[in-house]
Amino acid sequence: MSETPKPRAIGRKSISVSAQPRDLMDAKPDLAGVWTAQVVTLLPEAFPGILGESLMGRALKDGVWQLKTHDLRRYGVGKHRNVDDTPAGGGAGMVLRADVVAAALTDAKRQARGVVPVIYLSPRGKPMDQAMMQGLAKTDGVILLCGRFEGVDERVLQAFDVQEVSLGDFVMTGGEIAASALIDATVRLRPGVLGNEASAVEESFSDGMLEHPQYTKPAEWEGRAIPEVLLSGNHAKIDAWRREMSEKITAERRPDLIAAKGDGPVKK
Ligand SMILES: C[S@@+](CC[C@H](N)C(=O)[O-])C[C@H]1O[C@@H](n2cnc3c(N)ncnc32)[C@H](O)[C@@H]1O
Repeated sequence: MSETPKPRAIGRKSISVSAQPRDLMDAKPDLAGVWTAQVVTLLPEAFPGILGESLMGRALKDGVWQLKTHDLRRYGVGKHRNVDDTPAGGGAGMVLRADVVAAALTDAKRQARGVVPVIYLSPRGKPMDQAMMQGLAKTDGVILLCGRFEGVDERVLQAFDVQEVSLGDFVMTGGEIAASALIDATVRLRPGVLGNEASAVEESFSDGMLEHPQYTKPAEWEGRAIPEVLLSGNHAKIDAWRREMSEKITAERRPDLIAAKGDGPVKK
């Protein structure tokens, strides 16, 4: 858990600013054997953020998984706790220093137990997919390094054998959103997080396909009816219809998924 910065004086009052912004994170410090996300970030207050809501938030509160943040600023150098400097060789922006990032990662690794990959969220990385999340859900947790500015000094990525993982082919201002996405997609696959265990089995990507359409009440809405088969009560027919729709949608939208499964020629 990252430490609490010194109180800041405002007029005659003194307030204590916490780098651990949510009581969800303080409620159960360091639970042994619990899948743990450690996030190295310049913005610890961005966590748990959305991860503190709904099913994820409940699971966090219940100790099904835990979250620790490491405020990169605390490892900064000099009076101003500098974390970055200009790129060697020139160019725009700033780069996170190897020594600063290394100190934070060392702390995170010291606190990690079991199999805990170190991941740098980066547009250069391997794109996230469900198979990656399924793999991470089987580990004991992750250490996630969130970059800012122009990124991180390459040497620290090599020294810590860091895997680079991307949220997609676009550039964001920092790695925090990508880290949150990775945590959400991974933790929901852990036992005890989703209410209905089957829902992680029958959804998009679980078998390399996109999901069939879903409907609910009312049976007719603005002249649009729910497909009759879904109201038939015939489960064999419903399963067959869903499979057919799943194949059709996947072939139309993501022929690459079908090609990857090796299920024959890709329909256009
Ligand atoms: C402005 S970006 C740096 C981009 C870097 N100069 C480049 O061209 O690859 C700042 C930080 O945002 C994060 N980031 C940006 N886009 C991302 C993406 N698509 N996936 C994961 N992280 C991303 C990374 O942590 C990165 O270090």
